[in-house]
Amino acid sequence: MPWEHKAVLLSVLTVCITSLVLGVEERQRDECADLNNTTWLEYQQQRVKVQVQYLLLTRRNVDCAQMFTQETLTDTQQPSYLNTSLPTKVIIHGYRAIGSKPSWVKELARALLRVQDVNVVVVDWVYGASFAYNLVVENYKEVAVQISVLINQLQKNGCKLESFHFIGISLGAHVAGFVGTLFEGKIGRITGLDPAGPMFKGADTYDRLDPSDAQFVDAIHTDSDYFGISIPVGHVDFFLNGGKDQTGCARSRFASILIYFPVYGYVICDHMRALHVYMSALNGTCPLMGIPCFSYEDFLNGQCVNCDVFKGRCPTIGLSENCGISMSPIPKEQKLFLLTSSSPPFCAHHILLKLEVSRLDKSAEVEVTLRTGGLGKDQTDTTVYRTVLPFPLALCEINTIELKNTGARFYRQGDIHVKSVCLSEFPSLRHEEPLCVNNINIRRGAPWSHDLVQVCGFY
Ligand SMILES: *[C@@H]1O[C@H](CO)[C@@H](O)[C@H](O)[C@H]1NC(C)=O
Ligand SMILES: *[C@@H]1O[C@H](CO)[C@@H](O)[C@H](O)[C@H]1NC(C)=O
Ligand SMILES: *[C@@H]1O[C@H](CO)[C@@H](O)[C@H](O)[C@H]1NC(C)=O
Ligand SMILES: *[C@@H]1O[C@H](CO)[C@@H](O)[C@H](O)[C@H]1NC(C)=O
Repeated sequence: MPWEHKAVLLSVLTVCITSLVLGVEERQRDECADLNNTTWLEYQQQRVKVQVQYLLLTRRNVDCAQMFTQETLTDTQQPSYLNTSLPTKVIIHGYRAIGSKPSWVKELARALLRVQDVNVVVVDWVYGASFAYNLVVENYKEVAVQISVLINQLQKNGCKLESFHFIGISLGAHVAGFVGTLFEGKIGRITGLDPAGPMFKGADTYDRLDPSDAQFVDAIHTDSDYFGISIPVGHVDFFLNGGKDQTGCARSRFASILIYFPVYGYVICDHMRALHVYMSALNGTCPLMGIPCFSYEDFLNGQCVNCDVFKGRCPTIGLSENCGISMSPIPKEQKLFLLTSSSPPFCAHHILLKLEVSRLDKSAEVEVTLRTGGLGKDQTDTTVYRTVLPFPLALCEINTIELKNTGARFYRQGDIHVKSVCLSEFPSLRHEEPLCVNNINIRRGAPWSHDLVQVCGFY
């Protein structure tokens, strides 16, 4: 567990250094196809704006993609590994600042193939997606039109329209959305991984991803203040850690200026987090559940702690049908919130902390520390009365709670009488009682702590 090496200070906006998002490109065997790439020089010399080619990966050729194009797919000719009776996942990458091929495609394809026996079709439009962002945005509909021609052909060959699931990253999400528009929402599913924001925020639903583009549309938002879109675009929209800044990603006010430099991979840490969380969710180590709420502030204040609107089942990131939502009709543009940790598998337990104190004469500040048996697994929060904390372990593994009176010297409150401090975990299927300690006096400079004797039960 990556948590073991870190003490996480919740209330402090720590700046952590992350490794580059873009991994090292893998070497390919010669006979296997790969995504294309381009250079600025080649790009300027070419007449054609958009060139789309496709890669096919299946369980029978997980590591060796077959390349095909619109022209090579006909009624009588198709890639040998394509099985038209299986569902098809279509991966669409987004903007490529320096013309390089996306390095994560194979990992995503592999993760999908581990979960489901499908055809994975990777749309390679690196050529049209590179360099000037505004020109790339001009190209995205043309790419969608080309994809729709391909889908029509695949339908002729036996694929079912409702068995297509598009997974679009960033600008690729809007490409998928426009393919959906062209098929009048009859495509099975579209998943948008941090759908692009710049030039799309104010766009008409015709021009951007929206719930009418497929039978089910889900989206994950991780960078809605820079490269991602801040508005809900699907039936359900997961806003991770509020959807703006991700734990473990360095914050940069210069993000939009740095975009054209090689540090691009570093700068898009928040943006790429959606993809990494999605791949992690496919691995299925732990559930990443979203809690419906009106706003992130309400969520953090503990106003939303259950999924009653979904009949108790919280929507889950991943491949389960309609994210596990069984109610019908499926709601639209439903905002869902969850907290994550900073590294795979990204899951965190949501601990609700409630502090009830007697009337204070002056302002006060209380630091709460939750300790578990292991080393360094602390959580600290300088807190108000009700707050939600991401915690690496389950509530039942917390064995000490500490309170410290830490108000500013001049305005300090002498003693603070805490009527009760309560912890509970949500969403809770078992409707457990919160864990409470009542009637505590915490003096300045003398931390109070209480050991909790509890055992983790079995489900
Ligand atoms: C990508 O570019 C590099 C050099 O810039 C080249 O060696 C490589 O063959 C290219 N790959 C593809 C698939 O075009
Ligand atoms: C790959 O990109 C190069 C330019 O970088 C282009 O000349 C070539 O036609 C592309 N190949 C395909 C199949 O798109
Ligand atoms: C194609 O998929 C179907 C359904 O899973 C399976 O029955 C069939 O054997 C597959 N065909 C090939 C050639 O693998
Ligand atoms: C998913 O699992 C595979 C195999 O266990 C592992 O190699 C990969 O790193 C995991 N990916 C993520 C994102 O957790």
